[in-house]
Amino acid sequence: MKLAILSRSLRAYSTQRLRTAALERGHQVKVLDTLRFGIDLSGDEPDLHFRGRPLSTYDAVLPRVGASVTYFGTAVVRQFEQMDVYTPNTANGIMNSRDKLRATQILSRHNIGMPATAFVRNRAEIPHAIEMVGGAPVVVKLLEGTQGIGVILAPTMKVAEAIIETLHGTNQQVLIQRFVKESKGKDVRALVVGDRVVAAMRRRAQGDEFRSNVHRGGSVERVDLDPEYEEIAVRAAHIMGLRVAGVDMLEGNDGPLVMEVNSSPGLQGIEAATKLDVAGAIVDYIADQSGFPDIDVRQRLAVSTGYGVAEIAVMSGSELVGQTIEASGLWEKDIQVLTLHRGTRVVPNPAGAKVLEDGDRLLCFGKHEHMRSLIPARSRRPRRVRKLPKTPILEDVPTG
Ligand SMILES: Nc1ncnc2c1ncn2[C@@H]1O[C@H](COP(=O)(O)OP(=O)(O)O)[C@@H](O)[C@H]1O
Ligand SMILES: [Mg+2]
Repeated sequence: MKLAILSRSLRAYSTQRLRTAALERGHQVKVLDTLRFGIDLSGDEPDLHFRGRPLSTYDAVLPRVGASVTYFGTAVVRQFEQMDVYTPNTANGIMNSRDKLRATQILSRHNIGMPATAFVRNRAEIPHAIEMVGGAPVVVKLLEGTQGIGVILAPTMKVAEAIIETLHGTNQQVLIQRFVKESKGKDVRALVVGDRVVAAMRRRAQGDEFRSNVHRGGSVERVDLDPEYEEIAVRAAHIMGLRVAGVDMLEGNDGPLVMEVNSSPGLQGIEAATKLDVAGAIVDYIADQSGFPDIDVRQRLAVSTGYGVAEIAVMSGSELVGQTIEASGLWEKDIQVLTLHRGTRVVPNPAGAKVLEDGDRLLCFGKHEHMRSLIPARSRRPRRVRKLPKTPILEDVPTG
């Protein structure tokens, strides 16, 4: 395999370890400075230049895009994707995970435990938001902080309000989050590669500090993760669109609470704590997958006019409950079931004999007009729109 590692820090531990691991395995590997790329959209096909010359052909790219160059870095990764070069972490995945609010929003509908979180803009909404997550003490977080910078523990409602107002005043957006006290300054970092956790460590904050980041003086030790924690870590990474990720979890009273999913996890701390060859595991996974570049299925399938992708919920009362896929009539309507979601399980390419149950969600490809009739009307929340008055409103409005 010929692998490109995108990185700004050629000499950093992680970059060097990945490069060495690739060389040891007989791969060709180049570390390329992310900011020296040129995105070429002038020709018939998307192309990339590096240091002023057309880039040679690569089988795979491993992005290590730092927070300071997210926009340009993800643009370069997206360009590799357009050129069908395999990447374990897509541009979308990197962008989604970088913004703590966006990440939380995306994870929130997938049964992943997270600390209660709120986000508001107007100062009048701040007290309510703090109450929403359980009241003071609360954690206030900058949307794009790293290394623990921008994560503050506010002991009282008054202090929390003052901090949030100050940050809003300088145009910084913040998350308001329940302080998970029972975690006692500890958290776990699971290093996900593909479908498994290849290494995990526990980080412990120093003294009376509550942030366990190594950059804040936290210490690390290896830990054998509960299967529950492993499963959540892998699912969180996959939902974000990442196949190489560091998933940070607090140990809540009711199990794992995902705090963040890092798309460029550092390798030094975790390799030192676990004595495991994490870099090697990452390279092996990429070599194994490089034949299958990620395809934006929705985008590609939507190109066929009149066809598209939709999720059909099988709900009680629906005629689909208890039917096999074969007998359900979906195929006759030219609807293919791509995956079946049951609780937290996913069945890819479900067989025709599979019996549908109440609560299943079917990811389908087919004719829009046929699928539309199967998508249940939204019934969860009553509409709060007021009825229009009988006389048209515009009549009273002075013109001119
Ligand atoms: N809601 C919370 N409750 C308790 N501790 C938290 C909470 N959020 C963050 N922390 C602590 O602060 C550290 C940094 O928070 P995190 O959201 O990971 O930001 P960063 O991106 O800066 O690492 C975490 O590793 C954890 O130790
Ligand atoms: Mg963190």
